[in-house]
Amino acid sequence: MLTRRLFLGGAAASLAAAPSILRAQSRWRSNPFTLGIASGDPSPDGFVIWTRLAPEPLEPHGGMPIEQVPAAWEVASDDGFKSIVAHGNTVAFPELAHSIHVEVAGLQPDRPYFYRFEAGGERSGAGRARTLPLATAAPSQLRFGIAGCQDYQSGYYTAYRHLADEELAFVFHYGDYIYEYGPDSPAVRQHAGPLISSLDDYRRRYAQYKSDADLQSAHAAYPFFMTFDDHEVRNDWAGDIDDDDKAPPEVFRLRRQSAFQAWYEHMPVRRSQLPNGSAIQMYRRARFGDLAEFDFLDTRQFRTNQPCGDGYRVACADVTSPKAHMISAREEAWLTHNLQRRDARWNVVAQQVMMMSLDRRWESEPAPRKLLNLDSWAGYEAQRERLLMSMRGLNNVVVLTGDEHTNYAGLLHERDHPVAVEFVGTSISSDGDGQDIPGWGPKFMANNPQLKFINNQRGYLTCDITPDEWRTNFMVVDKVSTPDGKLSKRATLAVAHGESSLRQV
Ligand SMILES: [Fe+2]
Repeated sequence: MLTRRLFLGGAAASLAAAPSILRAQSRWRSNPFTLGIASGDPSPDGFVIWTRLAPEPLEPHGGMPIEQVPAAWEVASDDGFKSIVAHGNTVAFPELAHSIHVEVAGLQPDRPYFYRFEAGGERSGAGRARTLPLATAAPSQLRFGIAGCQDYQSGYYTAYRHLADEELAFVFHYGDYIYEYGPDSPAVRQHAGPLISSLDDYRRRYAQYKSDADLQSAHAAYPFFMTFDDHEVRNDWAGDIDDDDKAPPEVFRLRRQSAFQAWYEHMPVRRSQLPNGSAIQMYRRARFGDLAEFDFLDTRQFRTNQPCGDGYRVACADVTSPKAHMISAREEAWLTHNLQRRDARWNVVAQQVMMMSLDRRWESEPAPRKLLNLDSWAGYEAQRERLLMSMRGLNNVVVLTGDEHTNYAGLLHERDHPVAVEFVGTSISSDGDGQDIPGWGPKFMANNPQLKFINNQRGYLTCDITPDEWRTNFMVVDKVSTPDGKLSKRATLAVAHGESSLRQV
């Protein structure tokens, strides 16, 4: 009740007679912006700005009263907030965990803005976002970032602190923003609470992750295009199939509904991503003038179950079944149409799981036959082939991927011809410190000649694009087991427009 009274604005009056030490503590407890701020899904005239009011992030309801709470927001063209270009009032609803999503519109294209919130007499920190160029513009360059796979227990988010110091137009997040598991022991830092399942569990897990200062600094620095992979719901889930717990589909959909709602509540996404029951419209597109078209895929919600029992296995007949699919027929038609339109210099397929079909035999496993990662596109060969066929002759397709917790760059072949390149980003923290070239690396490269680069450290990617060349920089930190990891640029791989080939520069 104390928190509630304070939050509703009676703080000064109710604390007038309180000892000063209590007053100081209570004021801190009443600050509702403990989870930071974020922006996302930029367009030429605006972006989403996000926050969630949670004075006690790990407490039920984030320490908020179960009632509607008014809040205000403002957007300025300068970081001193002298020139306010948009502002308004909004309401934080308890049904949405007091999250706030404002779709700011009417701004100028291709320029930076600054935003902040106010609620209960408290003000948030300021964030910076940038609008996209007009679809008709011909930008000469784009620089953006790629990140994901951020298991809180595996390490610190040092890579995010460094990412915040780059100069980027936006960040693409390939998912695994949270992990669902209970506490690991030992762990660099531990999850609060056991394996998550209910809406309250998911909310609390997001609250713990979003309390991290490095993560908050990256969100405050750039708008993000958020997607999700499996761990936002449950390891290796597929459609309405729960691979780990074997819940019946109608039961698993309830968990998925809770997970999607919590995802929406904590992500800077538009109203069109508000879930409807257990369904969510996640796949969507964005354009950066005529320089690049981004198609953000949903490779989880519509997929058929992984074949042959999942994992790294020898292919069974189901791998080539024409009935198996990673994305829905509608999403496939949408993507193919977007690729074929040819109205952007680069076609970017920004998604979650590896599209290259690699032989996963490690040196220590003398398996007689090729092993495939059946949770990746390699387990859905018929649709993979169709998609690669649709890329034939384009020579402008770049596929961006996460999930593997290893950095890769390689070529995507349709039959024996390269039709696109794929860059796989490592993880922010998942799997811990890692090493430059893992013991299995040389054999893996030899088994898979389409691979041109491997590195097994943590970090993020930055991409520098011009009309004629795409460069991906592999940025790595030397460790995540302590908070002082040092950043270095491990490699830069380049693609010339019109050629599906890679060279290290
Ligand atoms: Fe992951």
